Amino acid sequence: MLSYQHAYHAGGPADVHKHIVLAELLARLTAKARGLSYVETHAGRGLYDTAGPEAAKTGEAAAGIARMTPDPATPFGRALAAAHAAGGASAYPGSPLVARALLRPQDRMTLMELHPAEHAALARTLRGEGTAIHRRDGFEGVLALAPFQPRRGLVLVDPSYEVKSDYEATAAFVRRLLARWPEAAVLVWYPLLPAGRHHALRDGLGPLRAAFDEAAFADPPARGMTGSGLALVNAPWGSADVFAAARRQAKGVLAARDGRG
Ligand SMILES: C[S@@+](CC[C@H](N)C(=O)[O-])C[C@H]1O[C@@H](n2cnc3c(N)ncnc32)[C@H](O)[C@@H]1O
Repeated sequence: MLSYQHAYHAGGPADVHKHIVLAELLARLTAKARGLSYVETHAGRGLYDTAGPEAAKTGEAAAGIARMTPDPATPFGRALAAAHAAGGASAYPGSPLVARALLRPQDRMTLMELHPAEHAALARTLRGEGTAIHRRDGFEGVLALAPFQPRRGLVLVDPSYEVKSDYEATAAFVRRLLARWPEAAVLVWYPLLPAGRHHALRDGLGPLRAAFDEAAFADPPARGMTGSGLALVNAPWGSADVFAAARRQAKGVLAARDGRG
């Protein structure tokens, strides 16, 4: 299904949670000189406009990035500054642009995006050396290409969870990926909904000893998503504090720490 459009949610509380943790992880991984592979299963368009009609319709960016003044010295602050330089003051970086701001020439980025218009926009924004952009199903494509070179790597798994079975399918994908590429660190985002469907995902990741961070939104909407979840499998060395860093930096957007750690 391809009815989901991330422009409605860009810069919202869930994006801020996911992107700060991603930036903190990449900052730690790039502290070592050796190159790494950065891979995304569901990349989106890479650059969003929080002043656009989609953001105005949901008000998510207003409850997210608009409430923050990120320190430009932090990894996320650097990525936000790069997005502003590319698209103006109301621009917001998608995960591929967060990564682009932090990766180095020795690193390789591989992105999957199935939606034709999102893929075309992503290819325009992210074209450049060291980046491969595929219009392909994210799970199928990443499994077909794994293990990536360099073998040191991080995979962001960020599906749109349009159908109930996506939660179990996501956990099954991560298990299969690690069977092929055991060295990979994997960051999975998931929504916290009143129906509690994410329990299937958490249970499915259980054997992999994932670390979880579940953040309630400071100002949740009357209906729908109440918080944002992240699971980190094979946490890289030195990354024990990335969830705490995100809670600190997103104060006022995410409620005080209450999640599973
Ligand atoms: C949550 S958004 C991604 C947001 C992005 N990772 C970010 O943080 O900026 C999910 C994306 O997955 C795309 N998509 C949906 N089904 C897909 C599939 N089977 N394979 C790859 N991409 C898909 C959607 O078009 C959408 O752009």
